[in-house]
Amino acid sequence: MTADIGFIGAGKMAEALIGGLLAKNVFPKEGIVASAPSEATRERVSGTYGIRVYGTAAEAAADSRIVVLAVKPKHVQGVFAEGLDLSGKLLVSIVAGLTVDKLKSYVPDAKIVRVMPNHCCMVLEGAMGYCCDQSVTESDKAEVEGILSAVGLAAEVGEDYMDAITGIAGSSPAFMYMIIDAMADAGVLNGLSRKDSIELAAQSMLGAAKMVLETGKHPDVLRDEVCSPGGTTIVGVRAAEDMGLRSAVIAAIDSTIEKSRRMSGN
Ligand SMILES: NC(=O)c1ccc[n+]([C@@H]2O[C@H](COP(=O)([O-])OP(=O)(O)OC[C@H]3O[C@@H](n4cnc5c(N)ncnc54)[C@H](OP(=O)(O)O)[C@@H]3O)[C@@H](O)[C@H]2O)c1
Repeated sequence: MTADIGFIGAGKMAEALIGGLLAKNVFPKEGIVASAPSEATRERVSGTYGIRVYGTAAEAAADSRIVVLAVKPKHVQGVFAEGLDLSGKLLVSIVAGLTVDKLKSYVPDAKIVRVMPNHCCMVLEGAMGYCCDQSVTESDKAEVEGILSAVGLAAEVGEDYMDAITGIAGSSPAFMYMIIDAMADAGVLNGLSRKDSIELAAQSMLGAAKMVLETGKHPDVLRDEVCSPGGTTIVGVRAAEDMGLRSAVIAAIDSTIEKSRRMSGN
């Protein structure tokens, strides 16, 4: 029986998606296939997840209802040179910088969804933006949402905003790691162990993120709730403002978006 979903490429991101789809019971293992040229990758993926694997992209595509393109940008041309038949199929590409128009030029009869994920998909806490070409139906979109939500949170945007998604989601974990590391330095400076400092800083970031997502409150409201009058936290807030924390974060993300725009010619 044809599989529900087939991955062209079985590296880090494909594995994150396969793991998420199985963990969240979106598809059974019989409903998932993958392809990779190297035998070592095929053995690892079939051994870990119990899914069918193929040596060529064309075989995986022929055996799937939905196809996910998860190869490095430099391998894209080679994949389509295999002559994939994707007529009427949903093609979900996670390849950075690969536009819907470019994908349409390879497979005009496919329904295209372009996704910009971040690497936190590997722990099923990804943040993603996606855009669709006009042939993608509402029920296709519902299916895509089901697939992407297995590895995180996804928002549909117009393709013009994919560079902004690169800054706010694709690259932003780097800035979060820098903040966690800086917080840990402050802990060590005040006598805590490096291990405790990193773990407590990371957990504080995770907890704060959950408070924003689960309470639906604006971050400013939550910050006010933590600042008692004349207390310790408001002193730290003033120091952070004095040192330009907000401006530094805005500049980091804005410059990433600007670089992405230059690279994509927008
Ligand atoms: N990693 C991230 O954080 C991240 C974030 C956002 C977007 N992305 C995008 O996700 C895509 C995949 O990234 P990744 O990190 O998962 O890469 P990866 O770990 O290097 O995996 C790439 C996979 O593609 C396979 N491949 C190469 N040529 C192929 C072909 N002709 N047919 C079928 N499979 C082929 C490779 O097979 P072998 O193992 O046999 O060599 C490998 O399994 C990239 O386009 C990247 O832009 C990644």
